Amino acid sequence: MVAGFGDLTILHDVSLDVAVGKVTVLLGANGAGKTTLFRAITGLLPPRAGRIALFGEPIAGRAPHLIARAGIGHVPSGRELFPRMPVGVHLDLGARLCPPELRATLRERVLGLFPEIAERLNQYAGTLSGGEQQMVAIARALMTNPRVLLLDEPSAGLAPKVVLSVFQALAKLQDQGMSVLLAEQSMTFGLSVASRAYIIREGRIVLSGTPAELAAERSVVQAYLGA
Ligand SMILES: Nc1ncnc2c1ncn2[C@@H]1O[C@H](COP(=O)(O)OP(=O)(O)O)[C@@H](O)[C@H]1O
Ligand SMILES: [Mg+2]
Repeated sequence: MVAGFGDLTILHDVSLDVAVGKVTVLLGANGAGKTTLFRAITGLLPPRAGRIALFGEPIAGRAPHLIARAGIGHVPSGRELFPRMPVGVHLDLGARLCPPELRATLRERVLGLFPEIAERLNQYAGTLSGGEQQMVAIARALMTNPRVLLLDEPSAGLAPKVVLSVFQALAKLQDQGMSVLLAEQSMTFGLSVASRAYIIREGRIVLSGTPAELAAERSVVQAYLGA
């Protein structure tokens, strides 16, 4: 798949697979093209060429809300919450994309996954800690009832201990059969949850493998990540 802005090509023939029921990680330094790839998948920046398929169904070029309805949930970079809007209303916004008869069950399941936000439904999102805000962003995306969840750098700006709790939630989601594509800059965090990893550099996939394979080539991966 190829994508860019105007004459500027950012993603050059990027190709990857997200395994069903697994976490796949996209590792890349700042500016490598991770967010651009997510925006291409979610329809916010329609790709210039190539194919994007969801369980075999081509979705490239559709409007973002139709791609969301088809089953792609997006947790955007920087979370993009509304600081002066209650947590519960964020969940309702996500639920607008999911069939009405599913909403109550879904809400129960999502709040079961994040008990810490279940107690804060009436609180303004802006008053929560960074980790709690990340969980609200994930919960909002889950309320769309996705089949694949894209998570754009959920660890950004969080203390390592808080990252751990976000990643524990990810592991639980995977146990429930969710397919996840996770963008990360940190090799250690990324490889800790994933079953497969792709390294992106300057808009190209330069390496891929299992966490064990990549851990065996740690110095090469670190060089690609600019660390
Ligand atoms: N709206 C835009 N217009 C032009 N270039 C952009 C735009 N957004 C991002 N870029 C460029 O695309 C490249 C990839 O950015 P991005 O996808 O945000 O990387 P990452 O998410 O991996 O940090 C960078 O060189 C960035 O400057
Ligand atoms: Mg980004």
